[in-house]
Parts: sequence; structure tokens; C-alpha cells
Amino acid sequence: MKYYIQTLGCAMNYSDSERVASVLQKLGFKKTENPRETDLYLFNTCSIRQKGEDRVYGMMRNLGEWKKQNPRLKLALTGCMVRKTSTRNTEKENRDKLLGKFKMLDFVFKITDTQRLEEILQESEHRPFTEEESESPGRLEYLNVNPDYTNIFQAFVPIQIGCDKFCTYCIVPYARGREQSRDMDAILKECAGLVEKGCREITLVGQTVNSYGKSGIDKLHGKFAEYKDPFVELLTRVDKLGEKGLNRLRFTSPHPYDFTDSLITAHAKLKTLTPHIHLPVQAGDDRTLQKMNRKYSVEQYKEIIKKFRAAVPGCSVTTDIIVGFCAEKEEQFENSYRLYQDLRFDMAYIARYSERPGTVSVKAFADDVPRAEKARRWHKLNDILEECSHEYNQSLIGKTLEVLVESHNPETGECEGKSRENKVVQFPGTTDLIGTVKEVKIQKALKWVVKGTSEF
Ligand code: 5AD
Ligand code: SF4
Repeated sequence: MKYYIQTLGCAMNYSDSERVASVLQKLGFKKTENPRETDLYLFNTCSIRQKGEDRVYGMMRNLGEWKKQNPRLKLALTGCMVRKTSTRNTEKENRDKLLGKFKMLDFVFKITDTQRLEEILQESEHRPFTEEESESPGRLEYLNVNPDYTNIFQAFVPIQIGCDKFCTYCIVPYARGREQSRDMDAILKECAGLVEKGCREITLVGQTVNSYGKSGIDKLHGKFAEYKDPFVELLTRVDKLGEKGLNRLRFTSPHPYDFTDSLITAHAKLKTLTPHIHLPVQAGDDRTLQKMNRKYSVEQYKEIIKKFRAAVPGCSVTTDIIVGFCAEKEEQFENSYRLYQDLRFDMAYIARYSERPGTVSVKAFADDVPRAEKARRWHKLNDILEECSHEYNQSLIGKTLEVLVESHNPETGECEGKSRENKVVQFPGTTDLIGTVKEVKIQKALKWVVKGTSEF
């Protein structure tokens, strides 16, 4: 029996898929890269924007056709599309809706039920899964599954699940439930195991990593009460693996609200922590930020970046930003544009606001920025993004960057990897360099990547 997993979305989803893969392998399934020859096709879905869901719908239709040719093919779905679409809907209602809408689907499961896949697969032979059976006792339990890491030299380690921030535009709190932090010991054990196997870079993942240990459920359990800043404590402990060969520690994504001064100090002090933060700002206008329920002002955000840049010289700062949110007039957009000009982010993910059913912004505000206007604003921000990225890349010419090689392109003969600042670097090299750290002298700056040589 073969399996094929199609993963969409963020680092957390990719990390989750590694756990699903490992459970399937234990059950005797073999991985295939060819979706046409698989016996089990599994979607790990993303709901952040409508586009991601539409992609799944489109693919599902194709798969329905394949199923007609091969009735033994099983189709399954997990990830963020398996959710309560609003506080009124139950998970069962949502799942039944998915199974009702897509007759070709054999089963749907919550990602937090990954460790129960054997039962789920057996049940799917006779009948759809029921809600009671889908309720796992501990939502964090599935993180104890040993993942089948895509790359051992560069791994994701989840540190929390869910999100309690409830930004008004965002589906994640409904899709992934309440925020809950993983035991520090379990995280440290996973990280130590990875480093023992030769891992060079660990990225700690979660929806708002720097609120680690501080959620309502965490407080209720009292597990993190002894730490003043549990996230900084965790970073300090993982950093010790530097002595055993860990080269880089990253995390994604932090939230400005929980960005403490001690986290900035840790960044300056801890050797493995890379000189980079990806800190989503979402908007550069106070009224919009308030409407988004982001819990900080533009000034407070700027202050964090100022302190970070002062404490970590040569660092890079990247962000997420949304254009065309409800009631964003020209003036509000111009404020976002000005913030971008001011802070000159080294890279950004710019999104056009997309209504997500069940969220507060759909219930309370009108999606009143026309599609063409969202596109115009997106292009305007993208132009400055290109300009800033190019400017930053040019500033790297003549510098020597430490690159963790991720891939090799046989057509160009070039290796590609990222610098500690998270910049994509290409240089002539061979396949055997994948997974190693090389010093590269930068000679050329393109818009999105820099090129250089490791022989200097
Ligand atoms: N519309 C557009 N972008 C969104 N994001 C989250 N929800 C939405 C939405 N409804 C963006 C945010 C977030 C990133 C992961 O996706 O910028 O940081
Ligand atoms: Fe969504 Fe906001 Fe939570 Fe990020 S912090 S996952 S944008 S609700």
C-alpha cells in the first residue's frame, strides 16, 4: 500500500504531515512521490485564505475522476479545513458537510487524532468517522508521534498548538482550537534527538511562539508557573545544543504583543539564535490594527523593531501584511505603505484580505474594498518590497555569509541555501554539499536572491 500526502500552508502543516507520514509508515504504507500510483491520497489543508480551499476543491474533483478508474484509491482530508466553521457549528457538522459535499472522500480526521490513524483507517472501511470517536483525550498527544522528518539537517519542531489571539480576520483559532503549549521536556528531547542525528538547524513552530507557556490552558495546568518568560527559557535550553553541533535556532511566528525585552536580549546573547525575526505587523495603521484585534499600536511595533535592530546588528526583519482589510481607506493603506518605507523590511508576505466564514470580521464588518483596489494596493506594496529586498541584497555584496545548503540544481550546477539572516544564496557547488554549512562570499545581488562563491 502506498501513500501520498499533499501539504498546503504553513510550517505547522508541514511539520504535522511528517507525523502523519510516520504513523502511516508504521502501519506498513510506503511513501510515493507519484500521486497517480498511490493507494491513499491525503490532503493536509490550509484555510488561511479562500484560495487555498479552492485549490483543494479543484484537486478533489480531479481525484474523483481518478477514483472512477481506480475504486481502491482512498481519499482523506485533514488540517485546517476540518474545523468548526463558527462557534455555532460542531466539528461533526463540519465534517459531515465535507463528507456530504465531496462524495469521493473516504474519511476526514482532525490532525490532533493523528496517533489514532490505524483505528480511523479501519473504521473508514465501513462507515464515516463519528464525533465521539474523533475526540482525543489530549490534543497535544499527537505531538508525541516520532516524525518522519523531510530533512534531518533542517527540521521543524512544534512547541504549541492552537491560537488564543482571535485576530478578527483569522480562521486559525476556529481551525486549530485553543492555544496549548507542549511540555518543555518533550520539546528538548525531540531537539536533542535531532541534533544527535546530525541536525544543523531547528525551527520552533507554532501560531504565536512567544506566548509559549502563557495561554489560559497553560496557566490552568500550572506547568510553566516557575518560569518568568517560558519562551526565553526554552530558547536558552535549546541553544545549549550548540555545543553538540546545532548551528542555527529559528522560530516562527512570534506575535508583537508578547515580544518581551528579554526575548530581544536572548537574541543578542544566544549563539545559535539567528539574526532574523519574522514579525507579522498586518497593518501600519492604528485604526486598522484595532479593528483586526491585534493588541498593539504602530508605535509599539516600531519600538520593538528599533530595539531588535540595535541589539542584533546586521539582522534581517521580515513581516506579514494584509491589504484591503474592512474599512481600509486610502489613508489607512498609505499608513501601511509609510510604515513599510520607514522600516524597510527585508522581505514580506503581502496578502489581500480574504473573508473567512465564521470570523468576527465577516460577522461585524463589510468586505468593502473592491477586488481591483486590493490588487492595486498589493502591487504598490509589492513594488516597495522588491525595492527593499534588492537594496538589502546589494548591501550584502562583498560580505561573507554562512549558508546551510538545502538543494542542488544539476542544470545550473548551483547549490542553494539560506544565510543565517534567512537570505536565499546561490553558489557553484556539488550535490554532496547538501546539509552542510558553507561560507559564501557574495558577488551579485538579484531581486530575491544573492549569488556568490565558496572558493575565495
Ligand atoms: N485574509 C488575508 N490574509 C490573511 N492572513 C490570515 N488570515 C487572513 C485573511 N483572512 C495572513 C496574515 C497571517 C498570514 C499567515 O496569513 O498575514 O500572518
Ligand atoms: Fe491568526 Fe492572529 Fe492567531 Fe496569527 S495570531 S494565527 S493571525 S488569530
